[in-house]
Amino acid sequence: MANTRLDDKVAIITGAASGIGEATARLFASHGATVVIADIQDELGAALAASIGADKCRYVHCAVTDEAQVESAVRYAVSEHGRLDIIGTAAALKHAGRAMVAAGIRGSIICTVSVGACQAGHGPAGYVTSKHAILGLVRAAAADLGWHVIRVKCVSPFGVATPLLCGLAGINPEKMEQVNAVMCNLKGLVLKASHVASAALFLASASLN
Ligand SMILES: NC(=O)c1ccc[n+]([C@@H]2O[C@H](COP(=O)([O-])OP(=O)(O)OC[C@H]3O[C@@H](n4cnc5c(N)ncnc54)[C@H](O)[C@@H]3O)[C@@H](O)[C@H]2O)c1
Repeated sequence: MANTRLDDKVAIITGAASGIGEATARLFASHGATVVIADIQDELGAALAASIGADKCRYVHCAVTDEAQVESAVRYAVSEHGRLDIIGTAAALKHAGRAMVAAGIRGSIICTVSVGACQAGHGPAGYVTSKHAILGLVRAAAADLGWHVIRVKCVSPFGVATPLLCGLAGINPEKMEQVNAVMCNLKGLVLKASHVASAALFLASASLN
């Protein structure tokens, strides 16, 4: 059976040139979405978009720390593809929320948060603090945008051996997965970026009917 869970949907995925975002971009495109990869690694992002296919995926340079760039990425998706159904991150939440409300789109905003949003000890204080804050923002935005039938949700992964985590720990992906497997609650399964992408797909494709 064809993968059609996101047919006709348009998704901006921030930080999608690598890791969890990359896996999500590939999975969403395979389910029929038109994907805009928004990242700062231009070569990697453009190569990923080309490998997914120009008809299904585009790359735009967008630093999520620069609100003007986020606004412009949202504008690009809406003007180029006529709509915007799925997106994530803080400034994106504001601009995508506005664009969805203006266009009357019953979209989904999905933030990648972390186990560090609920527990300390999984990273430095700044990381844990920011993830707690994003969880608060997700909850507040869900209440505000729920009036417009826009769903705001998050995925909170445990450790995944992406370039980010391996770089921070200074170990290779195989060793990182061994460490994660010892520390995690769910035994017998090594958490991969593709699992987090599947959780995002589940949230993005849940029917409102
Ligand atoms: N890997 C884990 O174990 C883990 C666990 C919980 C949560 N997370 C969260 O998942 C998200 C993705 O992390 P990952 O592990 O896939 O990392 P990653 O390094 O593989 O990918 C992160 C991507 O974000 C891009 N990026 C960095 N700064 C950016 C900016 N200012 N603007 C736009 N793009 C930017 C990078 O270029 C990269 O492509 C992060 O929010 C991270 O906190 C990761």
